[in-house]
Amino acid sequence: MIDQNELYEEVYEARKLSYSPYSKFKVGAVIKLKNGKYIKGANIENSSYPLSMCAERCAIYSAYAQGYTIDDFEAFAIIGDTQNPISPCGACRQVMSELLPRDINIYLFNLKHEVKIITIDELLPYAFDGEDL
Ligand code: THU
Repeated sequence: MIDQNELYEEVYEARKLSYSPYSKFKVGAVIKLKNGKYIKGANIENSSYPLSMCAERCAIYSAYAQGYTIDDFEAFAIIGDTQNPISPCGACRQVMSELLPRDINIYLFNLKHEVKIITIDELLPYAFDGEDL
């Protein structure tokens, strides 16, 4: 059962971890685990710009690096200071399509507390799939 206010609070807190001195655009992401825990991620930039990492991948890789896998994930949320609920970049969509469960609900927030709930298939239809290798 997802408590949307709790999810918002967690992802809002995650955004505060952003290291984004170059773009000054802070993004937060969280995975809610089935055990009730949250794994936070934030965008982490670098003076060598392309080395920067998006919040979404930061949260997903952090979860895996802590030993959690796809069956442990209950919900995913992202937040940014955007006019409409934030939309993840293409690279993150590809990673999300492989490392998050197919049926997971993805909560896209902005700081106005607006939310759009979406699925991986809606974000990235006809995704490249490791099965094709
Ligand atoms: N960013 C994310 O963290 N997630 C997104 O979905 C879009 C963009 C970050 C990357 C960079 O640090 C900053 O936002 C501006 O592009």
